Amino acid sequence: MDDRCEKIRLQKYMAHCGVASRRHSEELIRSGKVKVNGKVITEMGFLVSDQDIVEVEGKIIKKEDKKIYIMLNKPAGYITSAVDPRGRKTVLDLIKGVSERIYPVGRLDYDTTGLLLLTNDGDFAYRATHPGKEITKTYLAEVLGTPSNKALDALRNGVEIDGRLTSPAQVEIVEMKDNSTVLKIVIHEGRNRQVKKMCEAVGHRVIKLARIKFGNLTLGNLRPGEWRYLSQAEVSQILGGKNGHIK
Ligand code: URA
Repeated sequence: MDDRCEKIRLQKYMAHCGVASRRHSEELIRSGKVKVNGKVITEMGFLVSDQDIVEVEGKIIKKEDKKIYIMLNKPAGYITSAVDPRGRKTVLDLIKGVSERIYPVGRLDYDTTGLLLLTNDGDFAYRATHPGKEITKTYLAEVLGTPSNKALDALRNGVEIDGRLTSPAQVEIVEMKDNSTVLKIVIHEGRNRQVKKMCEAVGHRVIKLARIKFGNLTLGNLRPGEWRYLSQAEVSQILGGKNGHIK
């Protein structure tokens, strides 16, 4: 079959076009910002093919052929979204010379530093962030005080944040300072401000947070503010063996 005629769900099509992640695409559909062949579509299962004209916020979108995968060492003081209504600097300000419309995979807080992935591949973003896919994220969290063994065990076994228990985590002390402790925390969920909320739940405020690993991907020599393209092997690790086209 000519794959231009293949029908796929509208949110998947939008993600393939590099508009946004699948989840964000669903939000755009739900809020009436997407038209197919001139008609607003708010239905989630709506099927489209390359023969259809899809408009997002008035702009016709086309399938991106070239997939882009980038790793950034995010400095503090940058917001992880494509635009900020408050006019703060965004991580995209750090990625110069890339003409494709890329977006961050998941989120790091304004003051969090470290490994952030950006892509225009919705499947990649979905696989990288979906909790069921078990991709681990490793953080160094400096917390005030010294967590007791009981607090560490609670973090490992699950603490309640936003009314729901967190999944089991790996937690170990890597450094003890005068008034603070550096913890290495490995989680595979990506809930909003998860590490800070977990530590707060056991009585320890996070004063510094850095993501040092995403799955098995590490920052290597990337300094804060620097970025590089992922290798084919790195992309495949996240996609679970599926190959992407790497620049
Ligand atoms: N957990 C947080 O609390 N903040 C981040 O930026 C990432 C994980």
